[in-house]
Amino acid sequence: MSSLRRIVEGRTTLFVPSASLTRTEPPTTPFFFNPAASVNRDISIAITEAVGGGGGTFCDSLAGVGARGVRVANELSRRMDVTMVDFNPSALRVAKRNARANSLKRCDFVRSEANTFLFSRFRRDSKFDFVDIDPFGTPVPYMQGAFGATADGGVVSLTSTDTAVLCGVYPEVCRRRYSSVPLKNDFKHETALRILLNACRRIAGMNDIGIEPIAAHSTRHYLRVYARARVGAAQADRSRRQEGFIASCERCGERGSSSLPMVRCDGCGAKILSAGPLWRGPLIDPRIVGAALNVSRIGNLGGGAKALEALLGVEHFPPYSYSVERITSALKVPGVSQSEVMRRLASNGYRVMRQPFEKTGFKTDASYGAVAEAVSAVSRDADVEDAPLQARPT
Ligand SMILES: C[S@@+](CC[C@H](N)C(=O)[O-])C[C@H]1O[C@@H](n2cnc3c(N)ncnc32)[C@H](O)[C@@H]1O
Ligand SMILES: [Zn+2]
Repeated sequence: MSSLRRIVEGRTTLFVPSASLTRTEPPTTPFFFNPAASVNRDISIAITEAVGGGGGTFCDSLAGVGARGVRVANELSRRMDVTMVDFNPSALRVAKRNARANSLKRCDFVRSEANTFLFSRFRRDSKFDFVDIDPFGTPVPYMQGAFGATADGGVVSLTSTDTAVLCGVYPEVCRRRYSSVPLKNDFKHETALRILLNACRRIAGMNDIGIEPIAAHSTRHYLRVYARARVGAAQADRSRRQEGFIASCERCGERGSSSLPMVRCDGCGAKILSAGPLWRGPLIDPRIVGAALNVSRIGNLGGGAKALEALLGVEHFPPYSYSVERITSALKVPGVSQSEVMRRLASNGYRVMRQPFEKTGFKTDASYGAVAEAVSAVSRDADVEDAPLQARPT
């Protein structure tokens, strides 16, 4: 067996491949572990705890050395029966060792191809309350199996590491894999999450299952979504009504969202390309995200708390955001501070929050015209402040 190191993640002891702790790219052989995904797992723990209920079943369907599954079995306040699946026997051996290291008795280990296993759990009495999909690359191949193996009201969580595809670097691949046109602009991660959710919606919908997103977050390296499965044709139809398009104008910076693709900018009439189809509905369930944030704070799950906190309130905003740089360049005025523009919009009575899925940008319920006006006003004020003293109005 390759050399292992003992680490503690959350409240769980884990044996992980030594090389994964020293190399920038963790090796995939003989088995894979990514220490940088600890925040991803922290959030999993917090959300699974927050979803509540008494006890439950959790399938870590691409388990690797069991970092997520073992943590779920070990750190939740209620009993969770965890099944860890991987087709790599060496990874599963380490996962078993990790369960033993935490004195866990109720874990199952299944050496299987993930879809073969998930499709074998299609019968109602064999489904799970939670199914996690954490593949290398796109999760699309596992979506149907995951939703089929999840109980009505249960939660599917999935990671996508093909961020570049979903963010528009390879639009043809995005069309092929996700049947969607991506958008490569200042809110591309949010658009990517919405394309990913719509792929879940479409694939779950093929079996008359609807989805209700609970949470979504993004980093440069991966995207992550959590969605409840709601069984029934009416639920699937309700989800389908959240499908739509988003566009942003290259020329003037205006943005919009509609149930049909938009071809002309409402603001300046320029030709625009719409991203989608994508999920236009809410990205989070604020009650669960709030509860997960509490779990994170109490459990001292630092990075998780920060990401969850950033999400609160996002359900009140349209499915896009604004970039101050984009607007100052369209207006041909010098750069201004984003916080100033946000303050100005808030004092004009609009809702405003930082864009949680990007490094910069903000969301608001103000129209593009009102946002541009706030940017101009802040820019004018900055001009006055920068002017030489004698030129200042008295
Ligand atoms: C990204 S790793 C999972 C990491 C793990 N969830 C964690 O948090 O440490 C993906 C795992 O899926 C396994 N895998 C890849 N394709 C699979 C398939 N089709 N069926 C079963 N296991 C698969 C790999 O052996 C690898 O252990
Ligand atoms: Zn325009």
